Amino acid sequence: MSLNPVIEIDGIELHLARPVEEIPPWIGQREVLLQLLAAWSLFADDDAPLNPRLLGKPGVGKTTLACAAARELEREIYIVQATTDTRPEDLLVTPVLGPSGGVRYMASPLVTAMVRGGVCILDEGNRMSEKSWASLAPLLDHRRSVDSVVAPRQGPDIGGATIRRGGGSPRAPLRRRLEQPRDRTRGAGANG
Ligand SMILES: Nc1ncnc2c1ncn2[C@@H]1O[C@H](COP(=O)(O)OP(=O)(O)OP(=O)(O)O)[C@@H](O)[C@H]1O
Ligand SMILES: [Mg+2]
Repeated sequence: MSLNPVIEIDGIELHLARPVEEIPPWIGQREVLLQLLAAWSLFADDDAPLNPRLLGKPGVGKTTLACAAARELEREIYIVQATTDTRPEDLLVTPVLGPSGGVRYMASPLVTAMVRGGVCILDEGNRMSEKSWASLAPLLDHRRSVDSVVAPRQGPDIGGATIRRGGGSPRAPLRRRLEQPRDRTRGAGANG
């Protein structure tokens, strides 16, 4: 794949998630597909796409519909598989041990969709806690950004001057703001 799965934000390397490649074709039901495309359409520079919630009986095609609409817009597709255990941080950035022992920051499918201009599907989002939904509020409203506590400060080599920290202590968490640029269509579908 030609994508570079690593980007740098404020001096920190962020390993991106991979988009979903294989999706089944959408058959029939053009009307509902058009409704979703309309929800994601932008008509002015300061427009932001809606984040519709798709509701329906199991197996009716909600996830397939969201994928089909994203493909019609030629957007990369990222799926967050939500559960009742999904925590706010799971939706953003997860620190893991890197191969050489350091910390590696893994962007969630949602953050990857934000920075790459893709579509994020919060699959089974109805199972997610209110706390996790609330953590996405700034992304879904006019603020179009999320704050994430990504990791304890590991050493002077991690974090540049532009990184806002939560406090003055060396163990204070690094806080970073992941902003969603306005110049491209973004969408996030939440499946019920
Ligand atoms: N209009 C359609 N065109 C093509 N495939 C469809 C369509 N509707 C449903 N399917 C197929 O039905 C199956 C179930 O679809 P999907 O997983 O999208 O349903 P869902 O509503 O998300 O289900 P769940 O509520 O269990 O998450 C898939 O194999 C999907 O490809
Ligand atoms: Mg589904």
